[in-house]
Amino acid sequence: DWTADAFVETTIAELKAKLGNDKVVLGLSGGVDSSVAAILLHKAIGKNLHCIFVDNGLLRKDEFESVLEQYKHMGLNIKGVDAKERFLSQLAGVKDPELKRKAIGRVFIEVFDDAAHEVQDVVWLAQGTIYPDIIESVSVKGPSATIKSHHNVGGLPDFMKLKIVEPLNTLFKDEVRRVGKSLGIEGFILGRHPFPGPGLAIRILGDVTPEKVAILQEADAIYINNLKEAGLYDKVWQAGAIFLPVQSVGVMGDERTYENVICLRAVESVDGMTADWCHLPYNVLAKISNEIINKVKGINRVVYDISSKPPATIEWE
Ligand code: XMP
Repeated sequence: DWTADAFVETTIAELKAKLGNDKVVLGLSGGVDSSVAAILLHKAIGKNLHCIFVDNGLLRKDEFESVLEQYKHMGLNIKGVDAKERFLSQLAGVKDPELKRKAIGRVFIEVFDDAAHEVQDVVWLAQGTIYPDIIESVSVKGPSATIKSHHNVGGLPDFMKLKIVEPLNTLFKDEVRRVGKSLGIEGFILGRHPFPGPGLAIRILGDVTPEKVAILQEADAIYINNLKEAGLYDKVWQAGAIFLPVQSVGVMGDERTYENVICLRAVESVDGMTADWCHLPYNVLAKISNEIINKVKGINRVVYDISSKPPATIEWE
């Protein structure tokens, strides 16, 4: 029978044998998978693991700073790279979802390559790839715009000439969480909702601007905080707000407004391959809607997505 404790023990032993005294780079995303991969590797090879955390300007509100702090607390050897401008400038005017993903993937590779270069004599690239990622990358939506789906593009950057180590690639998400628990990783990290590599860029329909990112970050923070306060965050598999660049008429005081829409999405799922929309309580939805409309400038209407996957996907792009 599979147990998390046994997995941890054998995997650490295997990593030690495989990696010896080699240096390894790993891109951390703040998500469950890369965090668990990092701690496993850290236990196996300690300071020879060099983690890189890229701020692409498309993370949730305050996420980069708070997650970087948490990782440092966990003893990881981590470098934070501020690449906000680089990503946002490459996204300017790009409307097509696939082109947005490609632009983000390309810039990520450039930024990661620069950062990985700074680690002398690195031999391995570690990734938090889990089993469903391998399946998803051949699905209809095409490869996800993370580092993992770009291995076979031409003209490889230097870090891609590295040997690959993927300690979680036989596991499903729930197993990764159990492994994380066995490693002593804190619950709030293990319980974090999945978040896509291209971040808020694929939750802003059409072109991405710094203003839209700022609006979405505020609305999303209100949404997620309310789910936490209502004790619903851990019951939902994934939740997030989406910015719809559709203007509609509203009224604020005596003023007519003509502003954008925020859509709330929350789903139940096991592995993201299929999903049902969550029946969130009306009173919670009402509070979130009021708070977003009252506090977030540029939004005068909030809607709730009641579509399941399939045929809708979880993300809107
Ligand atoms: P969809 O939208 O395909 O999403 O139903 C399924 C799950 O995958 C996540 N997702 C991504 N994750 N890079 C990622 O790392 C991506 O490009 C990407 N696209 C979707 C999504 O958030 C959901 O959990």
